[in-house]
Amino acid sequence: MSNKIQTLSGYIHEYQKSVLQPEEFWGRIAESFHWKKHWDSVMEWDFEKPDVKWFVNGKVNITENILDRHLFTIGDRKAIIWEANEPGEATVELTYRELYEKVCQFSNAMKANGVGKGDRVIIYMPMVPEAAIAMLACARIGAIHSVVFAGFSATSLADRINDCQAKMVLTSDGNFRGSKAIPVKAVVDDALKSCTTVEKVIVLKRTGTDVSMKSGLDMWWHDAIEGQALSCPAEVMDSEDVLYILYTSGSTGKPKGVVHTVGGYMVYTYYTFLNVFQYTAGDVFWCTADVGWVTGHSYIVYGPLLAGATTLMFEGVPTYPKPNRFWQIIDKYKVNQFYTAPTAIRALQAYGLDIIEPFDLSSLKVIGSVGEPINEEAWHWYHSHIGKGNCPLVDTWWQTETGGIMISAIAGITPTKPAFASLPLPGIQPIIVDAEGKELKGNNVEGNLCIKFPWPSMLRTTWGDHERCRQTYFSTYKGMYFTGDGAKRDHDGYIRILGRVDDVINVSGHRMGTAEIENAINEHPKVIESAVVGYPHDVKGQGIYAYVICDMEGRTEANLKDEIRLTVANIIGPIAKPDKIQIVPGLPKTRSGKIMRRILRKVASNDLGNMGDTSTLLDPDVVQAIIETADTAS
Ligand code: PRX
Repeated sequence: MSNKIQTLSGYIHEYQKSVLQPEEFWGRIAESFHWKKHWDSVMEWDFEKPDVKWFVNGKVNITENILDRHLFTIGDRKAIIWEANEPGEATVELTYRELYEKVCQFSNAMKANGVGKGDRVIIYMPMVPEAAIAMLACARIGAIHSVVFAGFSATSLADRINDCQAKMVLTSDGNFRGSKAIPVKAVVDDALKSCTTVEKVIVLKRTGTDVSMKSGLDMWWHDAIEGQALSCPAEVMDSEDVLYILYTSGSTGKPKGVVHTVGGYMVYTYYTFLNVFQYTAGDVFWCTADVGWVTGHSYIVYGPLLAGATTLMFEGVPTYPKPNRFWQIIDKYKVNQFYTAPTAIRALQAYGLDIIEPFDLSSLKVIGSVGEPINEEAWHWYHSHIGKGNCPLVDTWWQTETGGIMISAIAGITPTKPAFASLPLPGIQPIIVDAEGKELKGNNVEGNLCIKFPWPSMLRTTWGDHERCRQTYFSTYKGMYFTGDGAKRDHDGYIRILGRVDDVINVSGHRMGTAEIENAINEHPKVIESAVVGYPHDVKGQGIYAYVICDMEGRTEANLKDEIRLTVANIIGPIAKPDKIQIVPGLPKTRSGKIMRRILRKVASNDLGNMGDTSTLLDPDVVQAIIETADTAS
């Protein structure tokens, strides 16, 4: 039986089967792959510890299923099509055969430089085919990759290198993004001043920017691959060996390393890719994410390549050289499935329809959305003007921790509803609970979103700190995975994601912990204390609003705000810079010292009416002072 759902009744049947007989259901899908040794049992699980295993004792290498398996069947099919930042630069196309050779060659280069099974490798690279090659080469030799988004600062990069004790860093001389060439090697040099575990840095020449190459440490990519064989044995991996670590922000402390393992991730990303987007052989699939985020891992690299798809990678930004770039690329490559973020849609919507007009978007069959709730206006615009009213729009809800899409329509098969992620995919058992964890059954309910049964690509742990994983995801509600999102189920049984219920904000689809931003702001010597909240932002979904208590001596407000933004950019990266800063005389705190963020969120959203009960505040007057100076936020 095909793994692709073909009809609505097929979906209902598969869903029921996945709930009633999960082992048979997932076992059947996993049989589509090449295993070096068959699993003993499909799954074992305990959400208390948590301890979850899929395809227990199975041995497999994910790259054999991406590369070797496809060599003799679709070796000449395009695996990756790459569009450069500059429209004039030549396209790079890699067939499955060429990808196989390049991955093997780079695997051998890494091995020759001392990397082996279980070693951690940081990938801090632009959106070029070599980034995907690097990820796959790690997977081939059993090294654990951790891709760090190349917009993160040296401090953030160093934190991640140190947390996972990385042995190697893969980077480039610079990154082209729009009109800029960003000197990323210099960021790596800076980060390494506070890291002791890195033995080798391999540097891809991309921009031609001058870089310093330290002898014994730094090595050019082209030198590293020179003379390396174009085949390389695939390491035998246990199904539960770690495939990658991806750092993500939470409501407390530093970002945590979400751990994904080989077997379950392989099965789930393949299955969800194939079904949600209804991929058909020969289609060109384009996901606009960066490989630094989970969407890039699961739906630029792993899911599509496991399915033998042609995946498009774009180096640049949607607005360069003109804000018609996305539409131009869809036309150029006759893209069939297009997957992007609501923030991009809203930003491009602002340029009007004339810029879309010259392009032929008729190749599109499916359009998708990910990363944050898509508001109805953006949904309709996307559906009408990009999908021309006849492409199913799949609003896909999932998380770094879930590894793959969890709640989404299946394109053209299950119905869609604007702003609703809609229905769970087969194998996913979401429930909505109240504050005490009681399941809210039936329709027309709203509460916190949990998942009550394991799925193959769920996180297994947080790197080096299993207790943090338990605390964050499995302790709020006993026996369930807590997503951190609020959700409602409407009268039709469709799920709508309402956004985060914890201290995490979602800026342009990027997750940021308020505590992390506050810590960065507090590093500025003039800052005494700060509190950060999210507020509704027309393009970004949420903007970052910082309330800051400062020593103003020797500074104007404008200077200080600039300096604070620079501090945040240096410590985390430009994406975390506050959109608005308000200098305040105090923060609304309870007698136990807890900041009442509810009040700060209301002021930031310009909702100055009823502030609710402020009687428990240590100093209720502070609220008035904050309201009165709200218009100074900038
Ligand atoms: O709040 C949800 C939101 O993004 C969070 C996960 O962020 P991250 O781990 O960075 O992964 C983003 C890409 C998968 C979720 O907790 N989110 C993601 N997709 C949607 C969404 N909110 C509403 N609708 C979505 N389709």
